[in-house]
Amino acid sequence: MSSIAELLASRSSLAAVSDTPGLDVELLLAHSLEQNRTYLKTWPEREVSAAQQQQFQTLLQRRQAGEPIAHLLGSRGFWTLDLQVNPSTLIPRPETELLVEIALEKLAAKPNALVLDLGTGTGAIALAIASENSLWQVLGCDLQREAVALAERNGRLNKINNAKFLQSDWFTDIPKQQFDLIVSNPPYIDANDPHLSEGDVRFEPRSALVAGKQGLADIEHISVQAPAYLKPGAWLLFEHGYEQAEAVRALLKAHGYVAVATLKDIAGMDRVTLGQYAAANEV
Ligand SMILES: C[S@@+](CC[C@H](N)C(=O)[O-])C[C@H]1O[C@@H](n2cnc3c(N)ncnc32)[C@H](O)[C@@H]1O
Repeated sequence: MSSIAELLASRSSLAAVSDTPGLDVELLLAHSLEQNRTYLKTWPEREVSAAQQQQFQTLLQRRQAGEPIAHLLGSRGFWTLDLQVNPSTLIPRPETELLVEIALEKLAAKPNALVLDLGTGTGAIALAIASENSLWQVLGCDLQREAVALAERNGRLNKINNAKFLQSDWFTDIPKQQFDLIVSNPPYIDANDPHLSEGDVRFEPRSALVAGKQGLADIEHISVQAPAYLKPGAWLLFEHGYEQAEAVRALLKAHGYVAVATLKDIAGMDRVTLGQYAAANEV
């Protein structure tokens, strides 16, 4: 049998695959013990049972093979929520919280807003927005049936009742109604991007990551279709790659959106571009 301190020393075995080996080992051990990380620091000398040690070693080996921590733990924090994750869709990223912040700013004066999240994945964006105002109605869609089931489960687990989810190929099965805001973090990586063979993305589905036309095909498709689903003065918000801001602004302007602007994420990278449909002074 080994102690907690002895097992934490296996952090060195993750140095080649992770930028945060110490944190990873703590998370995997805490998960195996069904405790939090404070417990590990409080009881370093405690012996770990054979079964728990076996579970920890299995997780450690999977991490050594590159599997994302979120897949091993089965969940990831986003906004104020704890979201289940699985290989059917993207693991929510911290930079995506910028989309939520901007959406909340744009919805602040709308007591009964209708919001659409296209490509909802775990439901991260839809659920974060819905969690901020129970009078807003949020609809999230995804092409992948498994992702829709996951988003629904995350809504239930986080006790959010004002977000609904459905399977749809972008707008194809969205009810014909007009929204106050449409938000999307669509696939935007070019198929030849070398980052696709590095880190966590190797374990995420191509359907969540890759788009044609240098990664811009889905953003273009949504920009063209969205006006039929936007109230006059409503906003369309995209997350995109840090080198795509100029192209996305050009696309939005070409399709008649006004007040087009790009905002930077916490790392100072161009990350979100938004545009307003038609009546610029109404929102
Ligand atoms: C980059 S992930 C974003 C997931 C989630 N919104 C987030 O920010 O964590 C893109 C999502 O779009 C979905 N998607 C891809 N093509 C789609 C399509 N044609 N219609 C609807 N959703 C699609 C993928 O399944 C994936 O869940």
